[in-house]
Amino acid sequence: MKIKFAKPARPKTGTLVLLVAEGGGLGPLGQDVDTATQGALSRAMKLAGFDGKRDKFLDLLAPGGVSLDRVVLAGVGKPEDLTAYALELVGGAIAGTLKSGKSKDATIGVDFDGGPLSSPQVAALIASGARLRAYSFDKYKTKKKDDDKPNPKTLTVMSSDAEAAKAGFEPLQAIAEGVHMARDLVNEPPNVLHPEAYAKRVDSLKELGVKVEVLDEKEMRALGMGALVAVGEGSVRESRMVVMTWNGGKKNDQPLAIVGKGVTFDSGGVSLKPGAGMQDMKGDMAGSACVVGLMHALASRKARANVVGVIGLVENMPDGSAFRPGDILKSMSGQTIEVQNTDAEGRLVLADALWYTQDRFKPKFMVDLATLTGAILVALGKDHAGLFSNNDELSERLAAAGTVTGEKVWRLPLGPEYDKIIDSDVADMKNVGGRYAGSITAAQFLQRFVNGVPWAHLDIAGTGMDGNKTAISQHFGVGWGVRLLNRMIETHYEG
Ligand code: BES
Ligand code: ZN
Ligand code: ZN
Repeated sequence: MKIKFAKPARPKTGTLVLLVAEGGGLGPLGQDVDTATQGALSRAMKLAGFDGKRDKFLDLLAPGGVSLDRVVLAGVGKPEDLTAYALELVGGAIAGTLKSGKSKDATIGVDFDGGPLSSPQVAALIASGARLRAYSFDKYKTKKKDDDKPNPKTLTVMSSDAEAAKAGFEPLQAIAEGVHMARDLVNEPPNVLHPEAYAKRVDSLKELGVKVEVLDEKEMRALGMGALVAVGEGSVRESRMVVMTWNGGKKNDQPLAIVGKGVTFDSGGVSLKPGAGMQDMKGDMAGSACVVGLMHALASRKARANVVGVIGLVENMPDGSAFRPGDILKSMSGQTIEVQNTDAEGRLVLADALWYTQDRFKPKFMVDLATLTGAILVALGKDHAGLFSNNDELSERLAAAGTVTGEKVWRLPLGPEYDKIIDSDVADMKNVGGRYAGSITAAQFLQRFVNGVPWAHLDIAGTGMDGNKTAISQHFGVGWGVRLLNRMIETHYEG
């Protein structure tokens, strides 16, 4: 789908979508079409009781008096209640309804005044929502159905200041591309996207000016990453760590660090998972996908910040050479870990990734994202990610950014009472804390590897893969977190 911007004018072909405010009636464009159709629009509005409430649509096919295929009225609610995210959802819902139609071209008109957002801003956000929605993952289907094709081919969003709308859309387009990249990575099957292939794919970020370094298993062993490397021992694929650096900020600005869990398939290892639903564990790298998508977004919109992204890529498989329950591992930090369950592997990967990141980059803060625990689904379901942090300011900034982008987070506690649960009799700690407070004890484990650096952990097991369907996200891979972290960086760290 190609997105363009133009000055308001009644299009001759395709579908026309008009954004109508609650109680505001038709704007100038709508009235023009109403006149040309001899009042068909206003009659239909009356008959359907359409009053512009948010998420209400009115659909007119082949209206007489005009050569348009279709006119859709899309309710946006009261202009004063409109937020950026609400408009993106409207844009997404419009893209959804256009996809099911047959028009090759569609035009969206912002046909109301008022509210806190300017007309070009509204146009850019509508376009952003449509772009986020217009995603498909059909590369492995040899026979494409109509359903799989992008439709319409061209979407034109009209605004009184089309140039400003276009300029406003540019960074949003960069972010949407980052989200799509993250979704692609999560949706890829685990036979294709194993750690080595994944690292190669991240290499493409170099084209955008991101520095990409790949550490192989030998290098990681030499650095002492005994926790991360152990997880990959059962796999025929070698593990990798990828370090992405974007230096868009001032030369001496301390970098911000984002770290991701990238388990390309989590079978559980020797502590094998039950078979039902195991295929979803291809998505156990959603945290790392968010980091890659974020770096893509930041570089394409040339963010004025220094950001480093670190992802630990491993495949967790059962095998004669796999690590086992009972093993004691030595992490890069020097701390030892008793393995009690090989399915609690994500924290082992992050232990070394976090330690390495703070040790090498001395970042202002670290945020990690991980599909870490099933327990976070029990606690929060799929509507919020779990947030754990040793820093109130960072937590508040993440929570505020999530409210704006619709990627909501909910903070859960940390504390010494939880921390002692993971003490081990035979090593410095064990990798499971038992049945209670499973997401918290996992976070306590991570905290032992941040070396006092301001840090936040986002447990995205419920949101990053197979999440709730929304108007802008309809697939297994959500791309969760790209917009959230982009927003937080843009708001607080691009001064
Ligand atoms: N990757 C899983 C967590 C997960 C569960 C992600 C469901 C997405 C959906 C993680 O590696 C895991 O298996 N965690 C165990 C930890 C337990 C053994 C302490 C869990 O949550 O059961
Ligand atoms: Zn696991
Ligand atoms: Zn896992």
